Amino acid sequence: MEVIERVDTIRERMQTLRCSGKRIGFVPTMGALHEGHLQLLRASVQENDITVCSIFVNPTQFNNPDDYKLYPRTIAQDTELLKTVGCDILFAPKAEDVYVQQSLLQFSFGPLEAVMEGEHRPGHFNGVATVVSKLFHFVQPHRAYFGQKDLQQVAIVKQLVQGLSFDVEVVRYPIVREEDGLAMSSRNKRLDAKQRQTAPSLYGALQLAKQQLGNKPVYSIKAAVEAYLSSMDEVQLEYFEITDPDTLRPLTNVQPGQEVALCIAAFVGPVRLIDNMLVNLNEV
Ligand code: PAF
Repeated sequence: MEVIERVDTIRERMQTLRCSGKRIGFVPTMGALHEGHLQLLRASVQENDITVCSIFVNPTQFNNPDDYKLYPRTIAQDTELLKTVGCDILFAPKAEDVYVQQSLLQFSFGPLEAVMEGEHRPGHFNGVATVVSKLFHFVQPHRAYFGQKDLQQVAIVKQLVQGLSFDVEVVRYPIVREEDGLAMSSRNKRLDAKQRQTAPSLYGALQLAKQQLGNKPVYSIKAAVEAYLSSMDEVQLEYFEITDPDTLRPLTNVQPGQEVALCIAAFVGPVRLIDNMLVNLNEV
């Protein structure tokens, strides 16, 4: 596996690969790789000629300085994991090379960023859109793979790709869960043993909501989720929404046959986790 740190080097390398007709798959990450990332990488290796993984803890998408400082950084271990799945190129740039000047760009995603993550993490999606645009320019992929755990991020990236006419196919890959249901996330590494035991309650809340969908009104499902999580040690619910799966607009009622996305964010101790579940009301 090639390891490239410099932006001018990755640009040149990718230009050569594209000109020689190679199909490029790209998995952008912030490192601390887990099985969820590895599944994205395996899919890319299978579906493309060349797979590039980027590891870059992007400072502009953190609205909380502690979250940025404490974000797990495990580059040596990540490099070994990438070799096991057949990744061809690791791109691990330095912040000063990605942001040569402070970025003053302002993206607007309209209603899509007015809810959930956009509402609770001001500036987050601006940072994501800025860095994803830069990474797409550097890597020039044909396909880019994103995990469904960050459902709203995938919708934002799709809107970015469409709005700026990037010639990139965005692939959304299903959530990968631990045996107890906890959605895999790099932030799980920050949970202590007790918090790790209560963290699957986010998935428990989604399952509870799924059971009640179609039988109870939305407001009562939301109240049941709140009550369930308030009985959990060290869990502080930030939001739970039943949303349209495409626009992510929160719904106040649902119809038979409708597809919805159940979305949740909560602190477990000091660690903020998110999760979601796509549900077809015909199947509940
Ligand atoms: O999902 C992530 O890890 C990040 O938001 C991404 C897409 C790599 C951009 O920094």
